[in-house]
Amino acid sequence: LKVKKPIIAIDGPAGAGKSTISRKLAHELGLLYLDTGAMYRAITWLVIDKQISLEDTEAIALEVAGATIELYPSDDLKLPVTVRVNQRDVTKEIRTPAVTRNVSGIAAQKAVREKLVKLQQIYGQQGGIIAEGRDIGTNVFPDADLKIFLTASVKARAKRRSHDLAQQGETNIDLQQLEADIAQRDFLDSTRELAPLQQAPDAIAINTDNLTIEQVIEKIKQFMG
Ligand code: DC
Repeated sequence: LKVKKPIIAIDGPAGAGKSTISRKLAHELGLLYLDTGAMYRAITWLVIDKQISLEDTEAIALEVAGATIELYPSDDLKLPVTVRVNQRDVTKEIRTPAVTRNVSGIAAQKAVREKLVKLQQIYGQQGGIIAEGRDIGTNVFPDADLKIFLTASVKARAKRRSHDLAQQGETNIDLQQLEADIAQRDFLDSTRELAPLQQAPDAIAINTDNLTIEQVIEKIKQFMG
């Protein structure tokens, strides 16, 4: 008896709650959690580390072609997904402001997307996966069993980000700057040529502004039947 395990796609802009929700849901359902943003961040870190110009698409394509990227989700929900690029652990480095500022420019490049999308599809080959990103339902897994598009206002997302930063011990938080950074990344991710951030026609949109994480998870479970 062959039972195909589900593929669940969770897309949406930065800070809508995708990571927390996808991780918790994957944990509860015993599915693999795939953080595709972490892959784009890993490549961005590599390009910066090698001091390659972000505009040098040829040099970036060459670097990406030879790079190995591995993700190791932890069973402990408090720990971040371990990310390795060329055998080096960059779990912390991929969350720095320098990487966040530059990731949209790297994620817009053809060679980068082609390599990472292939890798993501390999992770999903057996099913049993919750993949989170910007183009999962539209491009990576267009036949996903369930597609969720999470949204939230820029204000709500900036507030959540500032809360996260405060918890990490950051004391110097400029809420307006956070809002501007989020709006800028939304703009770049949704207007790029290749697989832009977009709701798939068959995706279910959930606005998380006034919902707790648990409430969003409950809603998604209802759609799973
Ligand atoms: O989810 P995140 O903030 O870690 O994602 C970082 C960036 O990676 C995001 O701004 C755009 C890019 N990305 C993408 O282009 N496609 C995906 N499926 C996931 C992320």
